[in-house]
Amino acid sequence: MCGIIGYIGDKKASEVLINGLSHLEYRGYDSSGVALSYKGEVEIYKAQGKLINLIEILKTKEDICSKSHLGIGHIRWATHGLPTTLNAHPHTCNCKSLTLVHNGIIENYQELKEELKSKGCTFVSQTDTEVAAHLIAQEYGKTKDLLCAMQNAVKKIKGAFAFCAIHKNEPDKIVVAKRNAPLVIGLGDGENFIASDIPAIIEYTKKAIYLSDYQVGVVTKNDVKIYDKDDKLIQNKVENLPFEAIAISKMGYKHFMLKEINEQSDVVRNVLSSKLVSSSENVVLNEFKLSKEKIKKITRVQIIACGTSLHAGLVGKYIIEQLAKIPVDVEASSEYIYRDTIADENTLVIGISQSGETADTITAIKQAKEKGSHIVIITNRADSTMARLADSLLPVNAGIEVSVAATKSYMAQLMSLYLLSFYLSEQKEIKEYSSIIKNLKQELIELPNKIELITQNPQNIQKIAKKYSSYKDFIFIARGINYPSALEGALKLKEISYINATGYCAGELKHGPIAMLDENMPVLAVLNTGIVYDKVLSNCEEARARQAKLIGVTNHIAEKDKGLFDDLIIIPQISDMASPALNIVVLQMLAYYIAEYLGKDVDQPRNLAKSVTVE
Ligand code: M6R
Repeated sequence: MCGIIGYIGDKKASEVLINGLSHLEYRGYDSSGVALSYKGEVEIYKAQGKLINLIEILKTKEDICSKSHLGIGHIRWATHGLPTTLNAHPHTCNCKSLTLVHNGIIENYQELKEELKSKGCTFVSQTDTEVAAHLIAQEYGKTKDLLCAMQNAVKKIKGAFAFCAIHKNEPDKIVVAKRNAPLVIGLGDGENFIASDIPAIIEYTKKAIYLSDYQVGVVTKNDVKIYDKDDKLIQNKVENLPFEAIAISKMGYKHFMLKEINEQSDVVRNVLSSKLVSSSENVVLNEFKLSKEKIKKITRVQIIACGTSLHAGLVGKYIIEQLAKIPVDVEASSEYIYRDTIADENTLVIGISQSGETADTITAIKQAKEKGSHIVIITNRADSTMARLADSLLPVNAGIEVSVAATKSYMAQLMSLYLLSFYLSEQKEIKEYSSIIKNLKQELIELPNKIELITQNPQNIQKIAKKYSSYKDFIFIARGINYPSALEGALKLKEISYINATGYCAGELKHGPIAMLDENMPVLAVLNTGIVYDKVLSNCEEARARQAKLIGVTNHIAEKDKGLFDDLIIIPQISDMASPALNIVVLQMLAYYIAEYLGKDVDQPRNLAKSVTVE
């Protein structure tokens, strides 16, 4: 998953491309590159590492930067070949007349490469993309037309791609193509933009055309033409873009992650607004398209997701099973696929994804769709591929999330899952849970203020973060509905600080992980008053007996038990069932401040990308 950008108009192309790429860094940041066109000549500049390295190079190319008004650019998350300058995009053919940037994976690149080699092409990089550059150039040799060359080439390519190509002989256009990778064309006045995602162009335009799979487009200064898979000219809908440029500003925070953690109280208000009006009224969920009769026939729920979204799904399992009395399986999308999953028309399949573009989840969803299951998509991006696959789309509207570590989108996903479980229970008319649901609703209404009590008082968490930032390993334990909090807390810590952190259900500690415990292995326990509180406390005793340092995150601790812990983080009062939404804020902050003390690149951790569009 990489980011691509293109510009044609009167502005300095280099400025638009670099600005756009800076908003696509969440998609990868191994290397970057641009191709700038001027009167049929194309100059390519590439740099290994962060975008800043490319910016430094361009500072020395004032001449072409001031003249070029057409260009394409790329930011890479390496799949084929090391993250070197040589493998950075754009790529070209041997005569350097065609220049290409690509997001996706060309599955048959080996086979195509052999064929192209036999026709005299020489390859300089290890990438799959270079194969496409040669292939399109070969087709150009036959057709002498960039559009036709692209149309012919994509028919020979297997896999996923979003392409932007330019050719020296046709210096007034950018040709684009898409299959299973996002691509949007921003429409301006006498200028047009191409990007993998909206943040790259939102400063310049609020109108755009989304390309669908198998479409090819020709973008000039004043026109956009789209062709379908049969090469027929078609008209795509012009859409209004949903974001404001302000949404992608740090707003004074040191990192996007901290800003996004602090936005969570508003995210809760947002998700609940108009759906949860009061604790005594039924949830309004017009987006859920199954009739009451069909809901009553649901025999099982399958939740499929990856990473943080998977952890939200695990919380969903607890609440849906408890409140709607439907068995729920939660599975990593990458495990759901490539086996004969049992699902039918009475299975409700819920796909959860911040980006809506995660390749594993898209494949899993398509697989379930073929079996006739009703597909619910919970996503932060109503404009995403997954959203378009949904039978019922529950957009979570957390606002654009820039930091690679997911925080506010997790909170929004949790809220959607609470709403969905209330809704299913209410539609099934399960009266015995109505008072539990009423109390939970009231707790969610009060949740934003409690989140603010945590985010606005970071001192204790900061102090603890500093104290533990030198440890190399961490164990997170919890039970019941907070077991996913332990998993998510550990994921947050490891992905941004590179500390080896593992989440366990506390009861499992004694079945193996306890062997790891000594004074060098801090254990963080999440314990909320409720059915498993005493059990987790006993697990803490077991850890303490092995001299592990103990941090407790809890809404209540008796005076007599305080001495068990080296450090305590007390959260506001909350029921066990609602507590994952508060505990996670503490764990996100702890991870953030540890990474910050360690001087890590919090928003762009190594080896990661925000949108994982490869399987
Ligand atoms: O966009 P998605 O929610 O589908 O992404 C899934 C994971 O890649 C994502 O949650 C990842 O684990 C994050 N880096 C977690 O912070």
